[in-house]
Amino acid sequence: MRKLSLSAALICLALLSNSNAEEKMSMSDADKAMYAEMLENNPADMDIAEGEQLFGGMTTLDAYSKMLGVKEKDLSNYIAGFPRYVDAAKKVVTLSQTIQMAAADAGKTVPKLESKEMLKMTAYVKSLANGKKTSIDVKANAQMKEMMKLGQEVFEERRGGRGLSCNSCHSPDIIGQRLRMQPLPDLGVNRAAGTWPAYRMTKSETTLLDKRFQQCMDNALLAKIPLGSREMVGLEVYITNKTKGNEIQIPGLKR
Ligand code: HEC
Repeated sequence: MRKLSLSAALICLALLSNSNAEEKMSMSDADKAMYAEMLENNPADMDIAEGEQLFGGMTTLDAYSKMLGVKEKDLSNYIAGFPRYVDAAKKVVTLSQTIQMAAADAGKTVPKLESKEMLKMTAYVKSLANGKKTSIDVKANAQMKEMMKLGQEVFEERRGGRGLSCNSCHSPDIIGQRLRMQPLPDLGVNRAAGTWPAYRMTKSETTLLDKRFQQCMDNALLAKIPLGSREMVGLEVYITNKTKGNEIQIPGLKR
């Protein structure tokens, strides 16, 4: 079975054209030069600046903290623990979903999870926790335990015509293998939770972590799980926990 699923994964990988920025070996000299330059001057910084404007036009950090039930001075630590159970939502939510709640509270138009505005505001809010370590607590309450379990199920579920799961390519026993210089990334080493939203050089755009999941679903021919669904939030809980303890450095820079 393992052999079969691995070859299915590798066939699928052959369809992928990009490789991992952290893996120096897989980069051409031109790519390396571009990566070094973008590290100095990440285009996503612009999105964060615009996100701050958008957020400020919608609500204040004071009102946002109150809605979340924390003191403003504790906000950055609190942000480092997402996704988390939020009383005002009565469920486990992502940072983007708290921004929707803040908009509703302020009587403003609620931005769609797919929108550019949401991307920019989420990047801004997450950047408030820069320098903190990701601190998700998947045992904090029954709701978090449930979402962690659901996330693991989604991660391991084989789907699509090729019967691939996230785990087919991101399981510890095949990480590091590669085809045509294409490395299979270790989500922990890549510090997934602390580095998204990130600028993706191959797409020339800033992307959210859950949208990055969707890009893998696309590449592996898996039906896309909708943003904001329980399954998607569960997946974010599971992967954030996998890479827990990494320092938050937003915006990230990825291949
Ligand atoms: C066919 C193999 C394959 C499958 C299946 C797959 N991925 Fe990936 N994934 C990759 C490769 C290869 C990369 C690195 C691509 C790059 O660097 O451009 C990647 C990158 C990622 C990253 C970014 C890591 C980082 O921070 O740099 C995340 C997060 C991720 N995958 C999550 C998922 C999830 C969730 C699923 C299941 C829905 C999934 N992947 C399914 C091959 C796969």
